Amino acid sequence: EVSDLQHDAVDKGKYRHFMLKEIFEQPNVVAETLEGRVVDHQVYIETLGENATKVFEQLDAIQIIACGTSYHAALVAKYWIEHYLKLPCLVEIASEYRYRETAVLPNSLFVTISQSGETADTLAALKKSKDEGYLASLTVCNSPASSMVRESDLTLLTRAGAEIGVASTKAFTAQLVSLLLLMISIGKAKGMKSSIEHEFVEALEHLPHEIQLALDQAKELEKLSGAFAEKHHTLFLGRGQQYPIAMEAALKLKEISYIHAEAYAAGELKHGPLALIDKEMPTVVVAPNDNLLEKLKSNVEEVRSRGGSLFVFADKSANIQASNGITVFPVDSQYAITAPMVYTIPMQLLSYYVAVIKGTDVDQPRNLAKSVTVE
Ligand code: G6P
Repeated sequence: EVSDLQHDAVDKGKYRHFMLKEIFEQPNVVAETLEGRVVDHQVYIETLGENATKVFEQLDAIQIIACGTSYHAALVAKYWIEHYLKLPCLVEIASEYRYRETAVLPNSLFVTISQSGETADTLAALKKSKDEGYLASLTVCNSPASSMVRESDLTLLTRAGAEIGVASTKAFTAQLVSLLLLMISIGKAKGMKSSIEHEFVEALEHLPHEIQLALDQAKELEKLSGAFAEKHHTLFLGRGQQYPIAMEAALKLKEISYIHAEAYAAGELKHGPLALIDKEMPTVVVAPNDNLLEKLKSNVEEVRSRGGSLFVFADKSANIQASNGITVFPVDSQYAITAPMVYTIPMQLLSYYVAVIKGTDVDQPRNLAKSVTVE
């Protein structure tokens, strides 16, 4: 069956670019990815099959391999898997993994994440993994008929529909939702309390609405983008599960606006990037609303006191005050577990509007391809 998302793929509709259209499709994409997999406050991924439950019961560790945006989704999953399942989760870029000697932890599951299912390095890593003694391979993939799906023992399809913009947006959100479903499924096989499962499910069910609230702020982000368009560099800071979101935000800005952007874990500021801070380098902060918030506030102060201009994306309750040099952008995110998905939205919109001001080819940035099928 062809979903609406597939039907609309070749048509930009009322949107100026595919990327903007795809950003706005995200409430729908999340709902599609959850469809039939969350029933009665519980997660069931039928397509994973009985075999999956056996593998999940046995596994003691997880190795995730991906490239680009998919790699950032893997990094978020690592925070979740280690925090909630207490299972070691290793994440590595495919081009590194495929060419080195690796030491595989006992009873490991090998996971690839890919929008296209055809990325050469990820596919090569998957093939290499077959001789390395993993329990099984699983791919989180957006393309049902792809090589990665064919080569994997287990498949969890993201249902983002066709993504045309080279810079990945809706596929990333669908990957995060799928990885959370996967984390819960593994948790269940290992005896996760149903009260915890219900909390996660509640967060997932509210996610389309929270993403919509973030999309409703597009106009404000468009205004904010003017502060970046003339700059040559931007620094993105995050902590905890928001650190990979800062990395993804930096990647988006680089890809489509050609502005040099770097992401740092905020705790690393003193170990180098503080030396770069001046009026010419804006700093974007993706604030977590958890026990790391206080630490992040002192990082913000470190940047401010050195004359850097700050743009802090934070929950209203985070109580970070706007002041000279600090612009605070409120984000409505009620659930910690899904905050990475919600904060992703303003980051995508920001880079989109910066690119529009710069007049770049948003959907087909120079030198980049949607799917890297050769080395
Ligand atoms: C290319 C694309 C990115 C994508 C990466 C990995 O670099 O431009 O958007 O994240 O490949 O692709 P995959 O299809 O494996 O997720």
